[in-house]
Amino acid sequence: MKFFVDTADINDIKDLAATGLLDGVTTNPSLVAKSGAPNFIELIKQICGLVEGPVSAEVGATEYEQMLEEGLFLSKLAKNIAVKVPLTPAGLKVCKHLSEQGTMVNVTLCFSAAQAILAAKAGATFVSPFVGRLDDIGENGMQLISDICQIYSQYPEFKTEVLVASVRSPQHVVQAGLMGAHVCTIPPNVIRQLFAHPLTDKGLAQFVTDWAKSGQVILPAKAA
Ligand code: G3P
Repeated sequence: MKFFVDTADINDIKDLAATGLLDGVTTNPSLVAKSGAPNFIELIKQICGLVEGPVSAEVGATEYEQMLEEGLFLSKLAKNIAVKVPLTPAGLKVCKHLSEQGTMVNVTLCFSAAQAILAAKAGATFVSPFVGRLDDIGENGMQLISDICQIYSQYPEFKTEVLVASVRSPQHVVQAGLMGAHVCTIPPNVIRQLFAHPLTDKGLAQFVTDWAKSGQVILPAKAA
């Protein structure tokens, strides 16, 4: 299971890339605005230098011609760019064009299995179903992931990876793993929550205390 971080905050990306557990980054226009970064293109180039895996950079246009032009421009910024397009007729047309020329494409704003089938047929590298936003309106976001995984698994010609987005909690990540989703894009705070368990903290404190009591050392004392 791949982990992407869902942020445009360069400090968070640097911090989490250092864990060695990060497989990529997803950004979106809202996250870019929140980051306060003055130059989107420079920001994306910088992020692409921090991780080896895919970095999703989203188009701003909604009409086909301009969306394609933006997508082609973004695709040339770095080898690990995944152009992010909305799940609309124009977005899927751009997806097909870019995919056919070998560019990674992340189709975003997916809220139904029907839409996910269209994304796969358009050759998307990733489809991003937004689980948290479905939960927010009383629907079951993870049920959608289960449905898409089941559908895709029945068609070997579908190469699209299920990228679980709008993740709000470690439980979303665990459920995604149980369902066999390929990727989770996770906000920095939720990635940090994944590490945490009170029994880990309690157990480690006990081990540190008992180790000190034992008087043992693993490494010889360094010469002054
Ligand atoms: O990057 C897309 C998605 O993960 C956004 O999540 O929390 O704004 O619903 P959220």
